[in-house]
This record gives sequence, C-alpha cells and structure tokens, in this order.
Amino acid sequence: MAAVLAASILSADFSRLGEEIREAEAGGAAMIHVDVMDGHFVPNITIGPVVTAAVRKVTGLPVDCHLMIENPDRYVTDFVEAGAEMVSVHLEATTHLHRTVSRIRELGAKAGVVLNPSTPLAALSETLPGADFVLLMSVNPGFGGQKLIRPVLRKARELREWIDREGLDTRIEIDGGVTLDNLDEVAAAGVDMIVAGSAVFRSGAARSNAARFVRRLAELANLEHSC
Ligand code: DX5
Ligand code: ZN
Repeated sequence: MAAVLAASILSADFSRLGEEIREAEAGGAAMIHVDVMDGHFVPNITIGPVVTAAVRKVTGLPVDCHLMIENPDRYVTDFVEAGAEMVSVHLEATTHLHRTVSRIRELGAKAGVVLNPSTPLAALSETLPGADFVLLMSVNPGFGGQKLIRPVLRKARELREWIDREGLDTRIEIDGGVTLDNLDEVAAAGVDMIVAGSAVFRSGAARSNAARFVRRLAELANLEHSC
C-alpha cells in the first residue's frame, strides 16, 4: 500500500494558515501534522490547543498532533478535545508511557510513541503492542527544514520487520528532512505515513508540492506491486 503524506504546518505561512491547509489537502495530503513545542523539551515554542482547534475547523483530514513537550500527560486531553484524531508523545519525555498511551486511546484518539533519532528501537519493547503508531524522528526535533539523518531509515526497516514478525498492525510514521529527492529511499524503508513540512509549504505552492509527493508515492507503490 502507498505511504501517505502528512503535511506539517510548521513551515506554512501562519498568516494564511487556513488557505495553506486547504491547499495541502487539495494536493492530496492525507493528514495535517501539528508540531507542538514547549521551549523545554525542544528549544522552540509553537502551537497549542487553541490553534489545533482552529486547524480542526478548516479541514476534513485527520489532525495529527506531535507533542514535543515535557509532561505530556497534562495536555493530552486538551489536544483530543481540540479535535486531534492522533496524538503522539515522546518516549524521552514521558515517565509513565503505558499510562499516557492508554489515556490517549481512552479519550478516543490514536496513540503514537515518538523516538528521537538517537533512541534505540529496543526502548519500545514494552509499549509497541499498545501503540497505534510509532513516529520515528529523522531529524532532531525542534525545527523544520533540517537534513534527514540517514541511519534512521535502517531503524525504520528494522521496525517494519519487527511489526510484521509480531503480526501487529502498528503503523510507522517518519518525520523530518523528507524531500522529493530522498522520498524513494524513505518510502522503501516500509513506512506508512511520511511527514513533510518545508518540502510541502515552501514557495507558497503547497498544492503542487503535495501533489508531486503523492504522485511519486503512488508510482512507488505501483512499482512494488508489479515486481
Ligand atoms: C520537527 C518537526 C517536523 C518538521 C518537519 O521537530 O517534528 O514535523 O515540521 O519539517 P521538515 O519536513 O521541513 O523537516
Ligand atoms: Zn513533527
């Protein structure tokens, strides 16, 4: 199956956020990825539940909140109430991960566990079966427009094998540094959801940029089929 595109609004023009989201949706993005940063877990400060609720109003796509915050337990309810269908928390920021993941699911959202590039997959061993998806960071979180950290692709392939071996339906999302130039390699790692921010929203051309991504992902899925 073709991987889908999650458009990260971090690189959108915030003065026209609604239009930018509609453009990405028209170009074929399957999800809107919202990067929540608190200035503690990561150096940057971005979006909270208020803007998430505004995003929810302008799109029919699932809203995917990536919480790069300390103490995410305190805030998961606010993001689900703001309309997020998917909420992911960093393993590195969550003391009682099992409880937090369970809480997100009880609230009715899909729960994701995020791993920084340097966090080994083994750290997931207890939580993998309880998570709806795993988000692998392919840059150090905090900013858009960084370069893909290539060894994370090997990690993605290993995670794919692990999930398949165990017969789980956990989905894999990858986030950071994905461009049209490396999209083939990223998709080949067996991921289900690909986040792209600057590559989608650059030059105010979200619709055509997203469309190029989605077209290439469909071509790759067809090639895989015909092999
Ligand atoms: C980085 C964020 C990413 C970011 C990706 O901390 O989690 O979602 O928006 O941006 P690009 O695609 O520009 O690397
Ligand atoms: Zn993100």
